[in-house]
Amino acid sequence: IRPLLAMERAPLLPLLLLAAVALAAVSGTEVAYNDRALVIDGERRIVISGSIHYPRSTPEMWPDLIRKAKEGGLDAIETYVFWNGHEPRRREYNFEGSYDIVRFFKEIQDAGMYAILRIGPYICGEWNYGGLPAWLREISGMQFRMHNHPFEREMETFTTLIVDKLKEAKMFAGQGGPIILSQIENEYGNIMGKLNNNESASEYIHWCAAMANKQNVGVPWIMCQQDDDVPSNVINTCNGFYCHDWFPKRADIPKIWTENWTGWFKAWDKPDFHRSAEDIAFSVAMFFQKRGPYITTSYDYDAPLDEYGNIRQPKYGHLKDLHNVLKSMEKILLHGDYKDTNMSSTNVTMTKYTLDNSSACFISNKFDDKEVNVTLDTGATHVVPAWSVSILPDCKTVAYNSAKIKTQTSVMVKRPEVETVRESLAWSWMPVNLQPFMTDEKGNFRKNELLEQIATSGDQSDYLWYRTSFEHKEEATYKLHVNTTGHELYAFVNGKLVGKQHSPNGGFVFQMETPVKLHSGKNYISLLSATIGLKNYGALFEMMPAGIVGGPVKLVDTVTNTTAYDLSNSSWSYKAGLAGEYRETHLDKADDRSQWSGGLNGTIPVHRPFTWYKATFEAPAGEEPVVADLLGLGKGVVWVNGNNLGRYWPSYVAADMGGCKQCDYRGTFKAEGDGLKCLTGCNEPSQRFYHVPRSFLKAGEPNTMVLFEEAGGDPTRVNLHTVAVGAACAEAAEVGDQVALACSHGRTISSVDVASLGVARGKCGAYEGGCESKAALAAFTAACVGKESCTVRHTEDFRAGSGCDSGVLTVQATC
Ligand SMILES: *[C@@H]1O[C@H](CO)[C@@H](O)[C@H](O)[C@H]1NC(C)=O
Ligand SMILES: *[C@@H]1O[C@H](CO)[C@@H](O)[C@H](O)[C@H]1NC(C)=O
Ligand SMILES: *[C@@H]1O[C@H](CO)[C@@H](O)[C@H](O)[C@H]1NC(C)=O
Ligand SMILES: *[C@@H]1O[C@H](CO)[C@@H](O)[C@H](O)[C@H]1NC(C)=O
Ligand SMILES: *[C@@H]1O[C@H](CO)[C@@H](O)[C@H](O)[C@H]1NC(C)=O
Ligand SMILES: *[C@@H]1O[C@H](CO)[C@@H](O)[C@H](O)[C@H]1NC(C)=O
Ligand SMILES: *[C@@H]1O[C@H](CO)[C@@H](O)[C@H](O)[C@H]1NC(C)=O
Ligand SMILES: *[C@@H]1O[C@H](CO)[C@@H](O)[C@H](O)[C@H]1NC(C)=O
Ligand SMILES: *[C@@H]1O[C@H](CO)[C@@H](O)[C@H](O)[C@H]1NC(C)=O
Ligand SMILES: *[C@@H]1O[C@H](CO)[C@@H](O)[C@H](O)[C@H]1NC(C)=O
Repeated sequence: IRPLLAMERAPLLPLLLLAAVALAAVSGTEVAYNDRALVIDGERRIVISGSIHYPRSTPEMWPDLIRKAKEGGLDAIETYVFWNGHEPRRREYNFEGSYDIVRFFKEIQDAGMYAILRIGPYICGEWNYGGLPAWLREISGMQFRMHNHPFEREMETFTTLIVDKLKEAKMFAGQGGPIILSQIENEYGNIMGKLNNNESASEYIHWCAAMANKQNVGVPWIMCQQDDDVPSNVINTCNGFYCHDWFPKRADIPKIWTENWTGWFKAWDKPDFHRSAEDIAFSVAMFFQKRGPYITTSYDYDAPLDEYGNIRQPKYGHLKDLHNVLKSMEKILLHGDYKDTNMSSTNVTMTKYTLDNSSACFISNKFDDKEVNVTLDTGATHVVPAWSVSILPDCKTVAYNSAKIKTQTSVMVKRPEVETVRESLAWSWMPVNLQPFMTDEKGNFRKNELLEQIATSGDQSDYLWYRTSFEHKEEATYKLHVNTTGHELYAFVNGKLVGKQHSPNGGFVFQMETPVKLHSGKNYISLLSATIGLKNYGALFEMMPAGIVGGPVKLVDTVTNTTAYDLSNSSWSYKAGLAGEYRETHLDKADDRSQWSGGLNGTIPVHRPFTWYKATFEAPAGEEPVVADLLGLGKGVVWVNGNNLGRYWPSYVAADMGGCKQCDYRGTFKAEGDGLKCLTGCNEPSQRFYHVPRSFLKAGEPNTMVLFEEAGGDPTRVNLHTVAVGAACAEAAEVGDQVALACSHGRTISSVDVASLGVARGKCGAYEGGCESKAALAAFTAACVGKESCTVRHTEDFRAGSGCDSGVLTVQATC
């Protein structure tokens, strides 16, 4: 970081600038921009950034994640700011632990990286309610993300709070801090056209820009996906799988790609999405060639660093190689002249950058089914594989091709902790005390109508009880009919569970119809409605209701299907949350200890809805990330030592979709609609593994896991695992190539299993090999076994006696 020259854009004389520096004695970084790049301290820079959402990991994990991001060739870390996490109740703030935003930016600074602050405060990170606090709805006249005083006042108050906090800690570039860009609003352009009142929308987005600029942060403001009606004092940027064909609206601003999706998020009914390293590398290389509710607890996103903080190979290494090549070309890319030439087809384009006497070339091949041969001015011919980009930093030698991976592929394995850990998971249990809510009608308040859930509970709990009582002269059987806007409903009559149902992902409205028996006298009807994360995206997403709003709730004659009693306007009493939530049962407090039954040699009920379970365990030894395997459970929430690991729902099985059976990196990647590919985990629980960050665990003392099982499950199947590289595989196309293999977390290579030429069958971890090379196997075994990592050169000798004289060398080792 160099001394600040001047924040003013006015053309001052250099001498004056120096004087200003001496007077102010600040050391900071100046961030400006032109049509080609961000200009940092007077130099055009390529800034490659990666996203780390601070509340999705622990402060103890941050330094390692940031270090790995830097080693992967990134210059900047970007993050959203999570308003509903920071201000869970109006004017009650949380900046502790995972929400310590200043500490997060300081870690970035300590690592010598830049930062991008994406305040939003509407954020599009598949985060509950888009990051907006549910209490906003209680303010009268409130309309989200539109031109109205109540919303704008709250948004400005929060934005100013965040900016002031970061200014106070000197986190902005001009102050010597890491933040070089800041963002206001997010993907508003996507919904503007879908709002009824587009004038108010337009006024709002211009207000956002003016309010942001008033904050005086000294770095440029950006707006993502704001392609129409762009306020003049912000930079509009692109989010997407591919941004090479996108250009900003103004000619004087650079092309910035704020979100480049490495995969896709996972929903409870969906398998795992994978975007190949080849395709991301293709899209990134293309970018530079052309200048340029129902979401699971896991937010892995198939990113280069996985949700446990492990390096995902080959994606990480393949992109690191790309970043290095691009960085070596920074000067010519940002200062050079450029010319595009279509070669044999408009699908094959060469872009030549020239500066002084040097030149650099990109050759892209957009055919998804054929390689092409391209002849350069020099007369040399290069083969460019299908759906790939070759980069020739000197226009002569291919330094990188996006479809040719030189990094190892790692297969991560989950190893059960020594058997004793499982044995030490001795469970005790406690029923959820539902009784008071079944009969005694003391709720928080009463109303003669069926209310919307989010407005009633303020999203302080997933659960809202709706209870009423009903006099009946004699015993009778009816069908209880409930119409609800979701997401999940449990119905109890006189304390007995009579029905449960949830809406399919994205469906929300559904009807429950279940037979019920009434006795003579007073009957109690208790409906427990549960949300599963609030909607977070789309025009007017905040207006999407939840719960039994308006009903109807009816008792229907079993024979004629006619309504016998409509209870919609009965006196309903309301209570948000479950008794255990008020008692904080998850904290395993001393006062509650006597309530648990079972223990070491006792038995516990399984498949029992509304049950708390508790077990103690020893922290697995070592450094490898720890995960809890929750297969066997129904639906609920899990805590370790009082830390919430999230909602679980392993009984919800992922769909078997079109993209489950095929995976070809070639061709456009999609995460929705037709043409899905590279899905895994189809027909399996959407999520069964939960990261238990090491900082949640205590070594040498018992650790406590508490489950709130809502639907009924079998906790005796729960187990703990550690995750590390299990198999490492690498390929070498040419004699002379170096083949590098590495394990993780200090583990060593225990064996080299395959070293063969030709086409290897199967996948890494289960290769069957092609033409076995005894010489290669011996060379790799000698160099690698017992080592954490090794590098061996592919030589001519490996061919001898293998039976194949050409083809790729494939090696597989076990860690
Ligand atoms: C897009 O994402 C990939 C993977 O994280 C990264 O390597 C690449 O640098 C990103 N592209 C840009 C233009 O930042
Ligand atoms: C609002 O929508 C109307 C009709 O769709 C259109 O004519 C008008 O230009 C829009 N105004 C703005 C500010 O986008
Ligand atoms: C190359 O082909 C593309 C269509 O794929 C076209 O848009 C572009 O203008 C062509 N470029 C040149 C330099 O002819
Ligand atoms: C370009 O090359 C010529 C001839 O080799 C040389 O005389 C000249 O100094 C070079 N120019 C630059 C800017 O490097
Ligand atoms: C470019 O490649 C795509 C994908 O293979 C193909 O569908 C398209 O027809 C090609 N375009 C031309 C002009 O050959
Ligand atoms: C490209 O050239 C190689 C020889 O260098 C040849 O084997 C291959 O068939 C050619 N591919 C195409 C698509 O013409
Ligand atoms: C159920 O409730 C929704 C939302 O209030 C309403 O639109 C719908 O008409 C109702 N359906 C039935 C069958 O009552
Ligand atoms: C009553 O409704 C059920 C399903 O809701 C249907 O199967 C049955 O045929 C209906 N009976 C009459 C008499 O309409
Ligand atoms: C319940 O009250 C609403 C509003 O007063 C009314 O429109 C509706 O008809 C009532 N429903 C019944 C079943 O009485
Ligand atoms: C559980 O049973 C084992 C043997 O079956 C016994 O050694 C142990 O003391 C018992 N533990 C408790 C807490 O009762």
